Amino acid sequence: MQTVKMNNNLEIPILGFGTWQIPEGKAAYESVRYALKVGYRHIDTAAAYGNEASVGRAIRESGIAREEIFLTTKLHNNDHGYNQTKEAFLESLTKLDTDYVDLYLIHWPNPIASRSHWQDANRGSWKAMEEFVGQGLIKSIGISNFREHHIESLLEKAEIKPQVNQIRLFAGEQQGKLVQYCKDNQMVLEAYSPLGTGALLCSPLVQSIAEEVGKSPAQVCLRYDVQKGHVVLPKSVTPSSILQNKEIFDFTLDEKQMAQLDEMENICGPTQNPDETSF
Ligand code: A2P
Repeated sequence: MQTVKMNNNLEIPILGFGTWQIPEGKAAYESVRYALKVGYRHIDTAAAYGNEASVGRAIRESGIAREEIFLTTKLHNNDHGYNQTKEAFLESLTKLDTDYVDLYLIHWPNPIASRSHWQDANRGSWKAMEEFVGQGLIKSIGISNFREHHIESLLEKAEIKPQVNQIRLFAGEQQGKLVQYCKDNQMVLEAYSPLGTGALLCSPLVQSIAEEVGKSPAQVCLRYDVQKGHVVLPKSVTPSSILQNKEIFDFTLDEKQMAQLDEMENICGPTQNPDETSF
């Protein structure tokens, strides 16, 4: 599996299995088990997804050595701040039933629960996360849905620079300035909703490129992100799609196809402003 090197010299597999919107229980357990069976070695979950227990059980019962799997989870919006983060992370670790996570992210920069003091709350969370890195309970730390001003505020006090920023990224939603800012600050970009939660698969352009290269629309979308150097996190509960989404390393999109996708309009709806979310 192709990997990307983070600014702490650790490697992250460029393809991960996204579990947002996969319900806790049978669906999460079976889809993660299947993803691991067919070769995924990177699983992305979050406290807010509510499925950490099933994700953890699927990893454990897969029989694959823990150190062969890259596991990410994220801090819940209600748990920002130093003490809350300490508790919340340990709770995630217990639910996942593992000794460490490979990557822990602040899920949203400015949740409603700490909106009046989001800068201090994020810095407190970050300090707690840095301490867990020191203790070996977290290997890498990062952020999600952060924009430039959120990152600047965090960097003022951070001892460890974020290793990744996980954001909504797909053909038509390039977040160009933010992506450049993250790259300038040595962060790997992780693309969530790389299929536009499915909506991108209906794009006539994506479909026509898929025909040209003899691949599916989903594979074209994922390949597009991978060629940009982004980590991709497709979600599916359908075994044939889980398998298909992995087969993206045996073809290349040419310059013209990449340029056409670069110029696409966003057909999947605007990305939420994290300073205005209601959660
Ligand atoms: P399902 O989970 O029912 O299999 P994203 O990763 O951008 O969030 O997109 C996830 C959506 O795309 C889900 O609705 C998922 O459906 C669907 N999906 C994932 N992979 C494929 C695929 N290869 N072909 C068609 N639909 C897919």
